[in-house]
Amino acid sequence: MGAADRPLTWDNDLKLSHPPTPQEVEATWEKYPDAAAALVVSPTPYGSCADLGAIARICHDRGKPLIVDEAWGAQLPFHPDTPTWAMSAGADLCVVSVHKMGIGFEQGSVFHLQGDLVDPVRLEHCADILSTTSANVMLYAAMDGWRRQMVQSGHDLIDRALALTRRVREQIEELPGLYVLEEELTSHEASHDLDIQHVLVDVSGLGITGYQAHDWLRENCRLDFGTTDHRRLEITMSIADDEWTVQRLMDGLRLLIDAAPDFPPSPPVLIPDEGELDLETVMLPRDAFFGPVEDIPIEESVGRIVAELATPYPPGVPVFLPGERINEASVKYLRSGVDAGMVLPDPGDASLGTIRVVKE
Ligand SMILES: Cc1ncc(COP(=O)(O)O)c(C=O)c1O
Repeated sequence: MGAADRPLTWDNDLKLSHPPTPQEVEATWEKYPDAAAALVVSPTPYGSCADLGAIARICHDRGKPLIVDEAWGAQLPFHPDTPTWAMSAGADLCVVSVHKMGIGFEQGSVFHLQGDLVDPVRLEHCADILSTTSANVMLYAAMDGWRRQMVQSGHDLIDRALALTRRVREQIEELPGLYVLEEELTSHEASHDLDIQHVLVDVSGLGITGYQAHDWLRENCRLDFGTTDHRRLEITMSIADDEWTVQRLMDGLRLLIDAAPDFPPSPPVLIPDEGELDLETVMLPRDAFFGPVEDIPIEESVGRIVAELATPYPPGVPVFLPGERINEASVKYLRSGVDAGMVLPDPGDASLGTIRVVKE
């Protein structure tokens, strides 16, 4: 797909994207009627959610399946006040990380399947190609234990977590220099719904970046966070939180507010405008990845076809995928981001002095 073709609801003021609207999904089907399926990420790492019911109907009217990356939605089936679970909305397949909003060991991801648009045997063959042959019984036991706990007392536990989250949101709002995003994520043309357990805090009022805030809180208060960017920090609340974890969080944020004036100024992150990060795929990812490659200085890479991933983490949404043509805006964004503290775990050269490209 080319840049202008993709469904992307980009907020140019906040510099973040929302999930696609049903209209955008419909328009994309009109452009690519032969596509095998629609794939939607919902909730996003910001907690914003797509109108999956309407999107599922659009896909099914064409006899096509809807696949949902619901990595952040493990808790959704167990409480009516959370956004709609993809399976209840009519999706055909959804992939869920139990270890994110549920409780479990890392790598505890599962998929749910329903309907007859996705062949279960083919799905199992695909999963087999990617899975280990030495399954870890602790992973399965933990997932099953969590499932049991959710069925037995999930409603009450999530009820408590939601009440705690609402309080945390209010308490942070009262702190000087910090701002909790909510309305911006759900109002007109933004997303359909919000999982409030993702508490997205704008720290730019303290004159610091989300990267600086995250690094400082981890080092000085042993607090860890989810999505971090040039101006935001995301607190993820779950059923594991209680008065004690909230107290630690609030103490940490107050200390951050006191410490922030002494932080060295951060170099600016050069955030692209709408569409500029939407690179054109000019080669099959597998051809770019497995073919002849070379490592070149990043400054010389504009116009070349990238052969490796570059993914700011967290949240883990790739800017470069093998087979895409590198543009100037993406290079400026990643280079300035790394200088400001962005973490890129996947390129061979994590400092992005060089990048792996297809040999010409
Ligand atoms: C939207 C989304 N999908 C998928 C993943 C990866 O999931 P897993 O940890 O199960 O590999 C992430 C990780 O952060 C994510 O944010």
